[in-house]
Amino acid sequence: MTPNPTGFSTRAIHDGQPPDPTTGATVVPIYATSTYTQKAPGQHKGYEYSRSGNPTRTALELCLASLEEGERGLAFASGLAATTAVFAGTLKPGDEVIAAADLYGGTFRLLERVFKPWGLATKFIDDDQPQGFADAITPATKMVWIESPTNPLLGILDIAAIAEVCHRRNVILVVDNTFASPYLQRPITLSADLVVHSTTKYIGGHSDVVGGAVIGPNRLMDPIRFYQNAAGGVPGPFDAYLTLRGIKTLAVRMDRHCANAEDLAEWLSKHPKVERVYYPGLPEHRNHEVAAKQMRGFGGMISIRLQGGDDAAKRFLSRTRLFSLAESLGGVESLVCHPSTMTHASIPLAIRQARGVDDGLIRLSVGIEDVEDLRKDLREAIE
Ligand SMILES: Cc1ncc(COP(=O)(O)O)c(C=O)c1O
Repeated sequence: MTPNPTGFSTRAIHDGQPPDPTTGATVVPIYATSTYTQKAPGQHKGYEYSRSGNPTRTALELCLASLEEGERGLAFASGLAATTAVFAGTLKPGDEVIAAADLYGGTFRLLERVFKPWGLATKFIDDDQPQGFADAITPATKMVWIESPTNPLLGILDIAAIAEVCHRRNVILVVDNTFASPYLQRPITLSADLVVHSTTKYIGGHSDVVGGAVIGPNRLMDPIRFYQNAAGGVPGPFDAYLTLRGIKTLAVRMDRHCANAEDLAEWLSKHPKVERVYYPGLPEHRNHEVAAKQMRGFGGMISIRLQGGDDAAKRFLSRTRLFSLAESLGGVESLVCHPSTMTHASIPLAIRQARGVDDGLIRLSVGIEDVEDLRKDLREAIE
């Protein structure tokens, strides 16, 4: 199907994207059609209706499967639509999910306020070591849900070791790989069962499209595919096109995100007005060795606390110029976010504070601008 399908960048640029069969267009066209003309009932070219399938979306789904080294990829209208499809397509009322407590606020809200009333129980555990999961699993547990790195505290979980714990007990391990991207980490190769992405972030990479994806083996993807078509949370062809366009440069962008973030994390960790830096690339990070083992680079996300607590954080957040104060992450431009009032505001105050997501925490999404300019912006906002 593709020339030389071995290297990551080659696959990002070519897989699922052969020249258009009718016109030869080198770039996958935006198939802006809701329906497909049939010759006779049931006689069609593989497409009937664009909720069920669209060629631009197919190209994206094939490329995502290739990059994550899974058998099948499915694209969704958002990361949370993808997450919903995993829970609703795979589990049933009465089942139990175990989730590592440090996770995206929207995933917490979905589990607590949508799936709990539906009948799915979730245990959020603070002990994110493999033994913590082994101790928490019960006969009702059907799925373990983790992020690594985690949002927003940049925790690193040992994916291979947790997969082993899960498989001993017949439990599916799902990894939300949004913070790493498939360029830095491929959970399926570490024995995870399913991978979920908010493609809104590094995969799209330009803060211009919202999307999500699930990748995994056919045996687990079949019911998720059924749910995708039955519930219909799919991306339109223009969104699929934008995401694919972003994917082509994922490797070069990630190298720069990592280089810039490593530089800034090291500088921040030595700054007298910075109390704490959360970044898996720093040798003092609790799970630095695990990160080095399972990731190609340490990513572009950093969280920090400043001397002076909440007030210092508030001042900092209104002073950065290049780092825009905004939700989201993973785009080429640098963003700064206040998790407690923004991305994680949907987590009740007491739970959030107990987990360390308080008003003093600042999250940086380091973009691919010149690092000297980013350092100057941070220095001026801190000092
Ligand atoms: C780790 C993680 N997973 C999932 C999501 C949800 O993705 P979306 O906003 O595309 O629905 C986000 C969004 O910030 C996220 O950070």
